[in-house]
Amino acid sequence: MALESKKDWILMATARSPTNIAVVKYWGKRDEALILPINDSISVTLDPSHLCTTTTVAVSPKFDRDQMWLNGKEISLSGGRYQRCLREIRSRAGDVEDEERGICIGKEDWGKLHVHIASYNNFPTAAGLASSAAGFACLVYSLAKLMNVREEQGKLSAIARQGSGSACRSLFGGFVKWEMGKDSTGSDSIAVQLADEKHWNDLVIIIAVVSSRQKETSSTTGMRESVETSPLLHYRSTEVVPKRILQMEEAIRTRDFSSFARLTCADSNQFHAVCLDTSPPIFYMNDTSHRIISYMEKWNRFEGTPQVAYTFDAGPNAVLIAPNRNVAALLLQRLLFYFPPSTDTELKSFVLGDQSIVKDAGIVTKEDMDALATPPEVKDNNASTQKFPGDVSYFICTRPGKGPVLF
Ligand code: ADE
Repeated sequence: MALESKKDWILMATARSPTNIAVVKYWGKRDEALILPINDSISVTLDPSHLCTTTTVAVSPKFDRDQMWLNGKEISLSGGRYQRCLREIRSRAGDVEDEERGICIGKEDWGKLHVHIASYNNFPTAAGLASSAAGFACLVYSLAKLMNVREEQGKLSAIARQGSGSACRSLFGGFVKWEMGKDSTGSDSIAVQLADEKHWNDLVIIIAVVSSRQKETSSTTGMRESVETSPLLHYRSTEVVPKRILQMEEAIRTRDFSSFARLTCADSNQFHAVCLDTSPPIFYMNDTSHRIISYMEKWNRFEGTPQVAYTFDAGPNAVLIAPNRNVAALLLQRLLFYFPPSTDTELKSFVLGDQSIVKDAGIVTKEDMDALATPPEVKDNNASTQKFPGDVSYFICTRPGKGPVLF
């Protein structure tokens, strides 16, 4: 059956993509339209069983325009970022044949066909958990599968990059570098996998979703203002990051947690220093974020070697990385000691994700949490044991995870 002869068919593809957390940050574009960065960045892909986007894309001759629904609500596809991704994927589409159903789409037909896209994030889109990274990675990946685009994953990453810069890194699992590239077309500004998720699978990642009433500066605006006004950003991108990238690659290759943690914390702190160096200054972290840094620094100093790495993106949420499950259990105990839920919150809706970490920490009931001992680094220094109930909305326990998959 030729494409035009019957109009009641529909062809679909569903994919799931992870989010990622940068340990060497992307901050600043050299080309706003193509989303080309001023430095390389490195990220850890997070396990999609805990944080992911699931996207179904469908094509049918019955559809009269491209449409998209995000978490069940229609959103506009007229923005440049969506238009670029759709155009780039369509221009690479191949022939698709489903003999059983008598569907035959020639590559020249894709320009005349419209798509419907339904995307769901399994975490609150407004929580500041890099939803656009998972979202655009999933959009590009699912469309590429539907339209039989036969490009390497690196080439797909360059398309996802044009939707949201950090989305390019979500095309791979494990540990990923986004190479800034030199070409003005952006063809070499792509993601490459440094190591897969099994390479360093004892790492445990705990995300503290920090309550915030403040409307944050968007990353796009913040980056532009930093590029225009921050002398520190110029120094960072030319003098600091090139060396840090090499050191981070080595730390990941050799699974050297001390080095990994020092580099991760230093990079997060420099990124936020750049934000303060921007005119007008940008404040992404709040008092709770600062408190978390201070507790982690105290613990690391007390032990003499890093127990945990912390990193913060363009928002107040903390991403904490522990070298193994034993340390992760101690980390979770500390976090729950300082930041218990407010009285009306159930424990099971307060610590989400990998429940085995909660079990290892020995916290099954609210009574277990009330009985948590004062951390030794606090006792030793007579530091404050003040608690801040409700300042963290919830925690998510996760680990390094795999890249996009088709269902
Ligand atoms: N922004 C936030 N979530 C998204 C999604 N799932 N797809 C595209 N853009 C997004």
